[in-house]
Amino acid sequence: MPIPTPARLVVLVSGSGTNLQALLDATADPAYGARVVAVGADREDIEGLRRAERAGVPTFVRRVGHFTTREHWDQALADTVAAFEPDLVVSAGFMKLVGEPFLARFGGRFVNTHPALLPAFPGTNGAGDALEYGVKVAGATLFVVDSGVDTGPILAQTVVPVEDDDTVETLHERIKVAERQMLVDAVGRMAREGFTITDRKVRFGQ
Ligand code: GAR
Repeated sequence: MPIPTPARLVVLVSGSGTNLQALLDATADPAYGARVVAVGADREDIEGLRRAERAGVPTFVRRVGHFTTREHWDQALADTVAAFEPDLVVSAGFMKLVGEPFLARFGGRFVNTHPALLPAFPGTNGAGDALEYGVKVAGATLFVVDSGVDTGPILAQTVVPVEDDDTVETLHERIKVAERQMLVDAVGRMAREGFTITDRKVRFGQ
């Protein structure tokens, strides 16, 4: 998929937004090939939104509870994101699954970063589930979102060791350091080189 440069990114967040911050920092360099045109969230009063505001990037919030059905929320989220005409939509700690209306609009250019080495440990507690299982390496995965839960084609992965005395917090923090670098590297390549998906295999370039 060729992408015009600089690529327009809409980033979705639900929490502290350190992955968003890594993208905001990277996009400050015009050579990066992308810029964040809006940041959206499913809740107010989070550091992720404050990071966007400090960077002068427009923000929006669409709370599930403000809509009569999940589908209406999904449609409203899709409409709002579409208004910013993104080339790529990045879910960076956005703790909501999107549905058909959103995927119909942004499928193939909606990516999500997850704190585990997929297909192991999908869901909302990737780092904790990996620690509990007793794995010796953990990591993060960037993938193209499809209709499953963390099942889409994989763009990039990064690996970190699990230490004997790790807690969920220390492991997740180690993962996030590697995850931010992976996200910045992969999104930059998507923007500058484009990418193709054939039989689940994602390749950068045309
Ligand atoms: C990241 O580790 C991201 O992978 C995870 O939330 C964290 C957000 O951190 N997402 C998921 O678990 C989605 N299933 P951040 O708000 O500091 O970027």
